[in-house]
Amino acid sequence: MSEEFFSHLSDEEQYCIDHSVAESDLLREIARFTWTTRNYPRMISGHLQGRLLSMLSRLKRPSCILEIGTFTGYSALCLAEGLVSGGVLHTIEIDPELEEPLRQFFSQSVFSSMIHLHVGDAMHVIPSLNIFPDLVYIDADKEQYPSYIELCVEIMPSGGLLIADNVLWGGKVLKPSVKKDKETEGVRLFNERVKNHPRLEPLMLPFWDGLTLAWIK
Ligand SMILES: C[S@@+](CC[C@H](N)C(=O)[O-])C[C@H]1O[C@@H](n2cnc3c(N)ncnc32)[C@H](O)[C@@H]1O
Repeated sequence: MSEEFFSHLSDEEQYCIDHSVAESDLLREIARFTWTTRNYPRMISGHLQGRLLSMLSRLKRPSCILEIGTFTGYSALCLAEGLVSGGVLHTIEIDPELEEPLRQFFSQSVFSSMIHLHVGDAMHVIPSLNIFPDLVYIDADKEQYPSYIELCVEIMPSGGLLIADNVLWGGKVLKPSVKKDKETEGVRLFNERVKNHPRLEPLMLPFWDGLTLAWIK
């Protein structure tokens, strides 16, 4: 892996990894591909966050997962680990360059027949899917986070679990003085909507770049 891969882990994170279950060979291969070929490899969930997504999905046992923002497929494969038999995972990625590697990686997985990759803008793809996901993972463009929450809550059943990454956005959401940019404004508005939504029971965690878990009432 690249130098950057090893240097981005703190000693504490490495210790946690050393004392956690290992990632699969396929996930390791995806991480290697990501850190050696992509411009922004840090977008990948990585080992610890991936194992947490897997654990949450395995506790929830969803029959339909919706992921917004596939990137190189790492988190999709982690989430798929919790699907019930016959379950499906829909994942949406806007970058057409990622389609070929994604299809290759997914085809190597035991979950390949359960994964449906959609290449396009999630804002257009979600309304066309006609699905009722009981687990949603939001991890795409931050400007659209407020719209994603509306689109997703509408189609999620009671008892569903919504997970959203980057809800602290590098700490910028905490600082009103920070120059307004569309991403920070998007994440701020998303966090307000989640907190005040009558169908949501949220828990915001200060892990990594901030992770929100929310039950659908
Ligand atoms: C943070 S990365 C996702 C990381 C991935 N979930 C993981 O954990 O490994 C965000 C991804 O969302 C994609 N994306 C951005 N805007 C999008 C949109 N409107 N619709 C679908 N995907 C989008 C980007 O191209 C990028 O690959």
